[in-house]
Amino acid sequence: MNHVSFLHLYIYKKLAIIELQFHLFPVSTSTTPLMAAASSSSSNGLFMVVAVLALLASAVHGQLSPAFYARSCPNLPAIVQSVMAQVVAQDPRMGASILRLFFHDCFVNGCDASVLLDDTPTMRGEKNAAGNANSLRGYEVIDAIKSRVEASCRSTVSCADILALASRDAVTLLGGPSWTVPLGRRDSRTASVAAANANLPPASDSLNTLAARFAAKGLSLRDLTALSGAHTVGAARCASFRPHIYRDTNVDPAYAMFRRRVCPASGGDSVLAALDATSPNRFDVSYFRDLMARRGLLHSDQELFNGGAADALVRLYATNGGAFDMDFAAAMVKMGNISPLTGAAGEIRSNCRRAN
Ligand code: HEM
Repeated sequence: MNHVSFLHLYIYKKLAIIELQFHLFPVSTSTTPLMAAASSSSSNGLFMVVAVLALLASAVHGQLSPAFYARSCPNLPAIVQSVMAQVVAQDPRMGASILRLFFHDCFVNGCDASVLLDDTPTMRGEKNAAGNANSLRGYEVIDAIKSRVEASCRSTVSCADILALASRDAVTLLGGPSWTVPLGRRDSRTASVAAANANLPPASDSLNTLAARFAAKGLSLRDLTALSGAHTVGAARCASFRPHIYRDTNVDPAYAMFRRRVCPASGGDSVLAALDATSPNRFDVSYFRDLMARRGLLHSDQELFNGGAADALVRLYATNGGAFDMDFAAAMVKMGNISPLTGAAGEIRSNCRRAN
């Protein structure tokens, strides 16, 4: 481990502890050893530590910091978590949909909530891009979280950060890992249908094309493979997986027949099938096991286990849930750090669907 990543890990551990302290114990009550130690030397001691660590974290992480709202909106994590817990309990697939929203936000001009903007007479936004129209869902969940957050801390928290936190909570609620989310993103004033069409990977992509698309965002083959593990939850439309189950040869024939039963050779485009047939609502490693059994639903899924460079990673994740959890969490932080708007750039939208 090099110096930067060691420093990085150290800062994150410290910040995670402090974030937890803030969350569990209001600053005025020094009831824990850490708080007592901090306040015994100076009542401002803890804030100094937070400020210094936040600064260090900013330097390492493009100005995002887990403690960004610790003072301006301390209830933020609890608000997001409680709405997500309700939503996922009612409709587990919605957890998957929120996670995908975040991916589609970050891959198009960075994690700036551009994906949430409705079209206007002068702007064609991303919602109607090829990969999003009739497919992306969950906008109203982000609206619901946003209105509760606004009621608690007005004009303070970006829609982009809400999406980052909600995605983390979705994964955890579905049984996956948790991680500390760096915050401080601001919202874009515009969105671009052209950028969405150019940047969102279609299911027809080869492994090389997928790897190149991810590399263009600073994400490695390992990140690509781990992040694709998101397909352990949620569903795809027949239109997305028809080419794979009818035309590809690297499919288990029994699985292809099973899927053809719900997805005819023509028509029925919007019929859904689980991306992970084994446990569609559980964030686990069965997606990778499916791939090893040639039961990937999308062409792009099976590309990860087709005699190429990602095979070894698929094998690793299929047998080592701890490795998958760690790599997935780290890759989500990396993806969440794609070109954020920070400082005075962008704005804090009051309504996630419209620029102010
Ligand atoms: C590697 C390239 C990827 C491709 C080609 C791809 C493609 C797709 C497609 C075609 C669907 C089904 C859409 C539909 O039929 O309506 C889908 C669903 C989904 N994708 Fe991906 N995806 C990729 C990576 C990712 C990543 C990185 C994440 C998140 C980290 C993700 C999360 C999801 C989730 C959770 C769903 C299910 C959503 C739901 O049920 O509403 N995908 N993806």
